[in-house]
Amino acid sequence: MKLRIAVTAGDGIGPEVTGEAVAVLKDIAAQGGHDFSFVEKRMGGVAIVHDGMPLPKDTLDAALASDAVLLGAVGGNEFNSLPPDKRPEGGLLALRAALGGFANLRPCFSFKELTANSPLRPEIVEGADILFVRELLGGAYFGKPREWNREKGIGYNTMVYTRDEVTRVARIAFQLAQKRRKKLTSVDKANVLEVSGLWRAAVNEVGKEFPDVALEHQYIDAMAMHIMNRPRDFDVVVTENLFGDILTDESGVITGSLGMLPSATIGGKVNLYEPVHGSAPDIAGKGLANPLGAILTAALILRYSAGLEAEAAAVEAAVRKVLEQGFRTPDLVRGNAQGLTVLSTKEMGAKVREAVASELLAASS
Ligand code: NAD
Ligand code: IPM
Ligand code: MN
Repeated sequence: MKLRIAVTAGDGIGPEVTGEAVAVLKDIAAQGGHDFSFVEKRMGGVAIVHDGMPLPKDTLDAALASDAVLLGAVGGNEFNSLPPDKRPEGGLLALRAALGGFANLRPCFSFKELTANSPLRPEIVEGADILFVRELLGGAYFGKPREWNREKGIGYNTMVYTRDEVTRVARIAFQLAQKRRKKLTSVDKANVLEVSGLWRAAVNEVGKEFPDVALEHQYIDAMAMHIMNRPRDFDVVVTENLFGDILTDESGVITGSLGMLPSATIGGKVNLYEPVHGSAPDIAGKGLANPLGAILTAALILRYSAGLEAEAAAVEAAVRKVLEQGFRTPDLVRGNAQGLTVLSTKEMGAKVREAVASELLAASS
């Protein structure tokens, strides 16, 4: 298997966790005789400092010429006063638009070993397994007009969708639900917003093609509560860009830490892989970051870009194994740490790689 992966390690904890994900992929390639190549490029704050812009042409070209892009989070407080398109986050949005992926898959499941780490009670989160499908190229993030007019003291964005933009992401969500527990929840604010009225009608229309999938609609405000109260009731959840951004950070509470959540963006020219969390300036450079979200993101590259399902599953099993063995990064320890071993980012990465190697060995023998 040959795969060209463009890596943008990003800012803050981005390089720390991305390095561990790349190390896992290199081990898998070496063990299985796969030809994975990695080209590293600057993106985000680091690119603003070196190249004067968040998404240099050289980075964009490399991303477009690759089979998959692995992205470390971008952003830092020193860039917060720049206009939106000049900020690190603006570079990320431009990259997403250029790669063209519109369906951002954000799986969230409760690891048995981490239930005690969730502020929710174990009986609420145990067994929860939700696949969020966040629309990634529309809504308020990209809608025009948009402006912050300082003289007039007015700011606005436009949350806009076309029927086709909703239909294409809904179809992916229905297809994914068909392969899972056949339930789809679509989240909107159709009691107030026209754009949500269109969203709901378009999802219903696509639903006619999938009579075997049970479709329900929820309003975003109620849904924010339902996923905390009864996360096990949800299978696939499809929603627009901004609502999906918010719900998926919230779902970090189910799994015990935001640092556990991976994502894959499909449907465009090149798939984009990024953990859900940000650059975490509060813990950057200290070896405190949890690399498991980035490593689980590497598993999604194996699944969706390399077609190596067994290897993807081996990485996920390895993550479960190290958690079973009591290894934790600091974000995964809440309260009683008895019986747990707290590791640095690098140490956790090394434990997972050991476990991946034994998973693959067991599978081949
Ligand atoms: P954040 O996700 O960076 O951090 C939120 C909290 O979660 C912090 O307390 C942080 O320490 C913790 N956390 C996050 N990831 C962790 C990990 N892997 N291990 C342990 N703890 C972890 O969100 P924020 O603080 O609101 O944003 C910081 C910067 O990141 C901002 O500039 C924001 O725009 C950017 N951001 C970038 C991306 C991306 O590039 N994909 C995603 C989200 C936020
Ligand atoms: C995410 C992030 C990004 C988003 C930002 C950094 C542009 O929060 O990937 O969830 O809002 O999409
Ligand atoms: Mn976010």
